[in-house]
Amino acid sequence: MSVTKLTTYNFRNLSSLTIDLHPNLNFFVGDNGSGKSSLLEALFFIGHGKSFRTSKVEHIASYEKDNFVVSIKDINDLQLGLSKDFNTGVTLIKINGERHARLSELAKNIAVQIVTPESFKLFFGGPRERRRFVELGMFHVKHDFSTQWREFNRVLKQRNACIRNQLDKSTLDYWTTIFCELSEEVAEVRSHYVTDLIAELPYWLGILLPSISDKVTVQYLQGWPQKKTLLEALNDSIDREKSYGYSLYGAHKFDVKFLIGKHALESQLSRGQQKLFLLALTFAQAKLIGRVNRVKPILLIDDIGAELDLHSRQSLSNAISSLDCQVVITAIEEDVLQPFIDDVDVSKNESDKNIKYHMFHVKHGGILPVNNSVMIE
Ligand SMILES: Nc1ncnc2c1ncn2[C@@H]1O[C@H](COP(=O)(O)OP(=O)(O)OP(=O)(O)O)[C@@H](O)[C@H]1O
Ligand SMILES: [Mg+2]
Repeated sequence: MSVTKLTTYNFRNLSSLTIDLHPNLNFFVGDNGSGKSSLLEALFFIGHGKSFRTSKVEHIASYEKDNFVVSIKDINDLQLGLSKDFNTGVTLIKINGERHARLSELAKNIAVQIVTPESFKLFFGGPRERRRFVELGMFHVKHDFSTQWREFNRVLKQRNACIRNQLDKSTLDYWTTIFCELSEEVAEVRSHYVTDLIAELPYWLGILLPSISDKVTVQYLQGWPQKKTLLEALNDSIDREKSYGYSLYGAHKFDVKFLIGKHALESQLSRGQQKLFLLALTFAQAKLIGRVNRVKPILLIDDIGAELDLHSRQSLSNAISSLDCQVVITAIEEDVLQPFIDDVDVSKNESDKNIKYHMFHVKHGGILPVNNSVMIE
């Protein structure tokens, strides 16, 4: 899907607005604090039901307001809406005007990926973000996985409760057996997904980081030591598990490690290169999601100028051109967008259907179209 219309109400500092997005390429330019990240946050929110920068959803409503609304319309006129009212505690999820109970119903219709200036630090900073990254891809590519994953987490909770409450051995053994079976199943599906992701990566590294594209290796860590069965690993660590109060091994502890030679990639690459690497991985994932054909992915890139020099931005522009994906980019200065704009043949004629992108200026929460897009207040 491509979002053609975005409407926000009481969302951060954004004035109540409706904007028309271009199906492929969109640029939002504005000063610090103007509302660029808030705009991406609104698009992210409709795809994930949460923010990428706060877990406190009440912080999203504009100051002194106790509700907010985000809605979008896609290229086929599908409408998705999400609103929160903090007075009544009601979350309204709407698809084509009909109410739905689960946020995952929204997410089935839109795949939003984001890269911010902080993303690569989080991604290389610990397994949490890497797990989230892979989970997002799996949700959109392996459609049965959500049910399997929910069941796994239910059993994990049961097993953790047994450990925490020091329940008898036979109860713990019962849950451990199911836990091991489900872990094996989850690890296998995930390993197939990671294999596909790794296969897609060299193409994007070839564009974005050609100097290292043949030097990177990727390791998939299933969540327990390779040389043991999960049951052996759990049996060996039961005393430690009791002192921690949760399961130390299992499919929830998976990770993906990136290496150059024997060294962690992040210890070998500069900050800009780490960002390009994460972008390559994000593009690889977008390609896999797009190939499944349920939704066309939407890629948000916040503050594109951060860390990236002109040459890197040119490479990024090439990568975007070969990705069949809607892209929304923010920048503080219009200058940094030059490589992206140079690559497309722009018509200044508003009636011309061959408009290749939409450009907006963001100022104090207001959004003004620059070229051929229209703002409706
Ligand atoms: N709940 C809220 N209600 C109203 N304004 C808010 C709310 N939360 C944050 N703001 C303000 O919204 C403004 C826009 O923030 P945002 O992060 O979107 O800016 P930005 O354009 O991305 O800036 P930068 O270039 O520095 O990243 C900021 O001034 C911020 O203080
Ligand atoms: Mg910002």
